[in-house]
Amino acid sequence: MDTFDAINQRRSVKAFDPTHRFTAAVDQAQVTDASLLFVLTADLEAWKKSPERYWRNAAPEVQKLVTVWMGPFYKGKKQLQRDEAMRSCGIAGQTIMLAAKAMGYDSCPMIGFDPVKVAEIVNLPSDHVIGFMIAVGKAVKPAMPRGGQLALSEVVVQDRFA
Ligand SMILES: Cc1cc2nc3c(=O)[nH]c(=O)nc-3n(C[C@H](O)[C@H](O)[C@H](O)COP(=O)(O)O)c2cc1C
Repeated sequence: MDTFDAINQRRSVKAFDPTHRFTAAVDQAQVTDASLLFVLTADLEAWKKSPERYWRNAAPEVQKLVTVWMGPFYKGKKQLQRDEAMRSCGIAGQTIMLAAKAMGYDSCPMIGFDPVKVAEIVNLPSDHVIGFMIAVGKAVKPAMPRGGQLALSEVVVQDRFA
């Protein structure tokens, strides 16, 4: 499927075919009926766990530069570490939802769950956070009509805020 078709056609579906199943988990019907449930998590301390492995294919001088820079950039900055984690989950999540659409599946991003219970279920390490969950499966009902889109002029700011 063309990327723009996947972007246009991806919608949050609430009713999945429960017989089209890979795994199952927790509550809301989207979660138990979906074929697959992703719990997107991030390691808040990834930056200090051998960060050179993220750059193993880069030139040695680039590797050194980036890994030397990474520690001071994140150290002691809890908000930045969390921002980075949520950014990464967001980017990964949208990629998963578009890939699912392109493969003929539907999805639903979800924050309606108890993060403490889900952390227990997945045995989340104490230095990790949960971004959100994504249910993926075969839709049995179309998505609800779009809730309403803000005008482009309200969401796109050119150059600087007024
Ligand atoms: C951060 C976030 C959390 C959401 N959590 C839930 C959820 O817990 N349960 C649910 O059914 N839908 C959830 N949704 C899906 C919204 O209901 C849906 O995205 C919204 O209606 C827009 O629909 P669209 O994604 O088809 O454009 C969530 C969406 C977002 C962006």
